[in-house]
Parts: sequence; C-alpha cells; structure tokens
Amino acid sequence: MPSLTETFAARFGHAPDGVWSAPGRVNLIGEHTDYNGGLALPIALPHRTHCAAAARDDDLLRIHSLQEDSFVEVRIDEVTAGHPAGWTAYVAGVLWSLRQAGYAVRGLDVVVDGQVPLGAGLSSSAALECSVAAAASDLFGLGLIETAEGRSVLAAACQRAENDIAGAPTGGMDQAAAMHATENHALRLDCRDGSTSQVPFDLSAHDLVLLVTDTRASHALADGQYGARRDSCETAADLLGVEYLREIDVSALDEALAKLPDDVLRRRIRHVVTEIARVDEVVEALRQGDLAEVGRLFTASHESLRDDYEVSCTELDLVVDTAVAEGALGARMTGGGFGGSAIALVPVACVEQVSAAIAAAFAEAQLTAPQSFSVTAAGPAARD
Ligand code: GLA
Repeated sequence: MPSLTETFAARFGHAPDGVWSAPGRVNLIGEHTDYNGGLALPIALPHRTHCAAAARDDDLLRIHSLQEDSFVEVRIDEVTAGHPAGWTAYVAGVLWSLRQAGYAVRGLDVVVDGQVPLGAGLSSSAALECSVAAAASDLFGLGLIETAEGRSVLAAACQRAENDIAGAPTGGMDQAAAMHATENHALRLDCRDGSTSQVPFDLSAHDLVLLVTDTRASHALADGQYGARRDSCETAADLLGVEYLREIDVSALDEALAKLPDDVLRRRIRHVVTEIARVDEVVEALRQGDLAEVGRLFTASHESLRDDYEVSCTELDLVVDTAVAEGALGARMTGGGFGGSAIALVPVACVEQVSAAIAAAFAEAQLTAPQSFSVTAAGPAARD
C-alpha cells in the first residue's frame, strides 16, 4: 500500500507541507459527565489519525482518505450543518469553526490515514478533527498548538465542528483528550472551568495492563439516545435550579433526588453525581498506588452506567462480567455506550486468559467476534 505522502503526491500532484496526527482515547472514568460540567479522566491511545496537508491560497478544501474511496471538494464558506456529509464533515467543520472563531484560515489539500478503529467508541472522529486542527494551526501560523491555552481553543473548535456541522451533540472530553493528554498520564479534565491536570498512569509498574475490547456492536452518537440523556440532565438541572449537575455534591444527592418527579430522572442524575465523585476517587487511588480500588471503582461506574444511566448493552456487559470473572481487578464500558468498547484492568499474568474468555463468551452467545488489545497512555496531537 502506498504511504500517506505518496498517496498525497499522486492525488494532488505536489508534496504535502507536512503530516500531523492526533490520538483516539479511552476514558478511564467520568462517563457522561462532560456535558454536565463534571470531571473525566481519559488517556490518549497509541492509535492515531494522521493527516498530510498542504495550505492553499484559496478557500477550497480537497479531502481524501486512505481508508475510503471518496474524494470531496468543498469551499469553506459553503460548509454548513450536514454539508459536507459523512466523515469529511469532521475535516471541513474544523476549518469552518476556526474561521467562525475569527481565525484567518484558508483551504487545504488533505489526505487522511485513520488508524483509530472506526465506530469502536474510541473517538476516531475527535482524532481526525484534532489532526486537522493541528495542521491548520501550523500552516496558517495560528500558533495555537504551541500552548495549553491554544490547544483548548483548538479543542473547542473541534467540538463545535462535531456539534454544528457533523450534528453529533457530544461534550468536549474527546477533543480535550486528543489535545492535552500526555504519555504515561491520564488527563484529569474539569469540564466546568476547562482546567486539566496530568495524573501519572503507568500500569506496568503494577504488573497490570489496560485491556480494551472493541465489542464490534454498532454505536452511533448521532442517534437519539445520547441526546435524550443530555436532555434529561438539562431538565433535572433546571428543576434543581443549577446550571450544571456538577453543582450537586454527592453528599447532597438524596436531597436533590427527593426534588425530582420521576424514577427515571432520579436514576439518571444519581449516575451523573456519583460518577463525578468517582473520578477524584480514582485519581486519589492512582496516586496512592491502590489499583485494587481503581478496579473496584471501574466496576461501580459500569454498574451505574448499566442500571441508572442505561447506556450499556449486552456486548459491553458480557465483556465486563467475563473480564471480572477471569481475574480483572475491574472493568467498565468506556465512551458514549450502546456498543463501542470496554476497558478492563488486568494482571499481566491473566491477559491471555481474559481475552480468550471474552472471545469464547461472544462465540457462545453467537455475537460478532470482539477485538481485545492492550494499550498504554500515549501523547497528544502534534506534527509527525
Ligand atoms: C462520547 C462523547 C463525549 C462524552 C462521552 C460519554 O464519547 O463524545 O463527549 O460525553 O460520550 O462520557
């Protein structure tokens, strides 16, 4: 297969100005908390989306991918909700949204090589957006990729592309992870004030592995369920008289629940409030080197997402139950849910056994074969 730069040269008749890339992510804990002004704790994956790009003097964007046959041309000033459609919305949307934010961006020639598994809940779309944003920052002299503040501006532009152009009403965790997460660290992300801090995350020192299992169960964030959960949170925040559910401390949860009119709403809110509290419990347990406690909190998070927030599914539950039964210290779904991936904290000595047991459980249940692989915490968007 020709390389990214060879494909670029063959497609456009000139070399790219450079190649930029950004990672996918798994979230360790803090799920469905970002749009509630809460806390999350993602790591960047070693899997990255690479984008070869060259600046143009005009407004035209020409986009091609090594993984897809499509070739799309669109002018930045024609970009609008739903146009262009499909994956190219993530590329075009970033240029559009940087321009909306007042940055002088022009067109690009772009070829994408996406190495983040697609549709696996590992934020391939944020990786794509952030690789393009990194390229735009350098090629148009914006300087944003060079500072933490600038990276937050780029992450916000990428989120806006996803919300306004691609039409997925996501929070900002995935883009923040791709822009700010660093090697061997988890990113403690405060979605109320946008602040971040780095939490050492090196499981090898504990003879543990973070095992990701892509269930291959289809997962689409643009479908109604994700938006419905967001709506429930907004309804509850209104009823409780707060801007974000983050403002409800876990110690005041019972009092808040008593003010809500129905059981479904109460369970949704109980998930959000307890999940936000679990993030700092995991941060503390990591700092103490208490990995058994981290595992326990992973599984508690999964139960809350399964029973209270109701965003798990058969495949995710099967991964979690099997991993824990075979020796994982804990396991949980990661990302939006309804399919996608789960993570498990597994002693090195049990990794083969856990992966094999998950594969066997899926075969037994006549489900599509899942894919399990171990990951370490990798680095953020950068020029290659
Ligand atoms: C998806 C969204 C994120 C976040 C998670 C759930 O990954 O893109 O913004 O809401 O779901 O934590």
